[in-house]
Amino acid sequence: MAQAALVQEFSDLSPAVTKFISRTQKLYIDGKWVDAASGKTFDTIDPATEQVICKVAAGEAEDVDRAARAASRAFYDSDWSRMIPAVREALLLKWADLVEAHAAELAELESLDNGKLVMYAQMVDVPAAVNLIRYYAGWTTKIQGSTTNVSIGIPNTEFHAFTLRQPVGVVGQIIPWNFPLVMAALKLAPALACGCTSILKPAEQTPLTAIRLVELAEQAGIPAGVINLVTGFGQTAGAAIVEHPLVKKIAFTGSTPVGKHIGKVAMDSLKRVSLELGGKSPVVIAADADLNEAIPGAANAIFFNHGQVCVAGTRLFVDEKIYDDVVGGMAEIAKSMQLGGGRNPASQMGPLVSKEQHDRVLGYIEKGVSEGGEVVVGGGRHGDKGYFVQPTIFKGCGPQSTLYREEIFGPVLVANKFSTADDLAAQANDTEYGLAASVWTRDLSLAHRLAKRIEAGTVWVNCHHLIDAALPFGGFKQSGMGREQGHEGIELYTEMKSVLMKI
Ligand code: NAI
Ligand code: MG
Repeated sequence: MAQAALVQEFSDLSPAVTKFISRTQKLYIDGKWVDAASGKTFDTIDPATEQVICKVAAGEAEDVDRAARAASRAFYDSDWSRMIPAVREALLLKWADLVEAHAAELAELESLDNGKLVMYAQMVDVPAAVNLIRYYAGWTTKIQGSTTNVSIGIPNTEFHAFTLRQPVGVVGQIIPWNFPLVMAALKLAPALACGCTSILKPAEQTPLTAIRLVELAEQAGIPAGVINLVTGFGQTAGAAIVEHPLVKKIAFTGSTPVGKHIGKVAMDSLKRVSLELGGKSPVVIAADADLNEAIPGAANAIFFNHGQVCVAGTRLFVDEKIYDDVVGGMAEIAKSMQLGGGRNPASQMGPLVSKEQHDRVLGYIEKGVSEGGEVVVGGGRHGDKGYFVQPTIFKGCGPQSTLYREEIFGPVLVANKFSTADDLAAQANDTEYGLAASVWTRDLSLAHRLAKRIEAGTVWVNCHHLIDAALPFGGFKQSGMGREQGHEGIELYTEMKSVLMKI
């Protein structure tokens, strides 16, 4: 009975995805696809239908230990880290080509596991992953040290001093569920470009595209042990990676509380740590902004990926002169959005990723109402099956309210107005987070002043959510530590060594 229903729900999937989900997914350790040592598995769920998609191996400490040993052998005993950079570049480029060639399949799989629309996965997620791998493939041949003139005053003695930038070793990479494929590429590509080897743990909600991505890496010829994939839960698989003595660096993206915990544990063995955490990003719309751009732009800032974005524009600040027009315009957009499954071409927004996230976001909406906020649009669940939440806008949730202060990670906006631009930066900065911001204006001076004063890793002007592999990405304050992407991404996975020679 259950099996018949399952076939029914998934009958429109492509042959490639149907075949992929017909099996129980395994761990990838030392170049082999294996079950968890415990034999345990967990279900991954389609958030649009609440159906089980397939079973996935639940890796734990013993599996992480095997993965860490394999990664360590690949780092120290194989020629991966000493490989001619151009050869490593060619392998990464081949991998990127394979990802691009499987774009349709990956987009469909991402949509199935995460709930986002296939259309967006194909337009945004898959190209972003391909670009990241290609961008870091290019860096393999451009990693440099420098020579330095030293002033060591020993008579009749000369020195030659230089620096070497070298891979940090085995890295543990723990990623969330909002952009599963992009996050996997963002972690693996720079690490591999530098000659590191990795243990990657995808989120338990969305393990599937990382598995497919690693299969494609294997197909591209990336050697055994270089990438090890351990699917499983945070408390078991994730914690074991953070604690493992062979792991020299942790790269984490996820919630601020877990990030802080990981940072503390990693400090015990002085592992290098980079953290990309939560946000509460302001969207500032000045009176002179082009509202034809700013209104849909601000709606996209909050509703893109169903608000499940670390840089989502969750706090809106609009000049009081245009406040009603802007909030009214955004409410029209929210009202008109068709919610539905990711493979339905009529859908404009899919479900949230999980029941947990769905209940959490609905809990925040209730809290907003109980604290006296006014629901302008949305405010509830959509339908009675799947984890859909209506795009929601609140008025009257001021700086002291829970909705203004806490990361909701759903399609829920708090709209505020301002009367002068003088204290705008202070309002924008009135948060413990500092990941991103957007400013909508035609006034160049205002744009530059705010870009300087807003405490955020990324400030967009007249746009939001646009990310490029070459631009550093990360957070001020409690939004994280370190920067990914760009040259900064190379620094995360390398150590600097000074060599001083008496000659
Ligand atoms: P989470 O931080 O628990 O999960 C992220 C990753 O960390 C997952 O792979 C998880 O298995 C792993 N993890 C969890 N506990 C761990 C531990 N003790 N040691 C090592 N790894 C561990 O996030 P969750 O629970 O999925 O979402 C809760 C909230 O976190 C969301 O509502 C949102 O506010 C925020 N979040 C922020 C993200 C971002 O991109 N900044 C991404 C995902 C969630
Ligand atoms: Mg899932």
